[in-house]
Amino acid sequence: MEKRQGTKTSLVSRLLVCTSLLFLFGCSSDSATTSPDSSASSAPPESDSAPPAVLSAEEKLYEMYCLNCHGEQLKGGYAPKLEGIGNKFSEEELLKIMVEGIGKMPSQKYIPEEDQKLLAKWLAEQK
Ligand code: HEC
Repeated sequence: MEKRQGTKTSLVSRLLVCTSLLFLFGCSSDSATTSPDSSASSAPPESDSAPPAVLSAEEKLYEMYCLNCHGEQLKGGYAPKLEGIGNKFSEEELLKIMVEGIGKMPSQKYIPEEDQKLLAKWLAEQK
């Protein structure tokens, strides 16, 4: 009697261990497929001709810092559109807007200076 009970419990617990191991394994192999350094490898070369198929560094910065308010592809949303913003503001003025804010737009000076400069240059070219 007692012997039987013993085998039963150990079988159950072994099963439990097996399933949890499977679960753990499934999870860890899943997360391993996303490699951490997908963007670090190659920056697109600087060129005015032929727009790159992938997002440029500036577009990525825009998405990271401005898109929430200014919308997809500079088209506006909560904040006014930035299409053609290069006709309205110079690179220096755009930089100033990011650092100081403008009207209802809060200062974005938490953005690293290098990124601000890239964004200002890029936006000034949006005509
Ligand atoms: C928290 C939301 C928010 C974020 C984030 C934001 N903006 Fe703005 N932005 C605004 C608002 C609101 C206005 C309109 C200000 C006004 O006229 O009162 C504005 C206006 C502007 C203007 C002037 C537009 C015009 O036609 O006069 C520029 C240029 C601008 N933002 C650039 C940027 C850039 C570049 C970024 C990213 C680095 C950014 N903004 C991030 C909310 C935001």
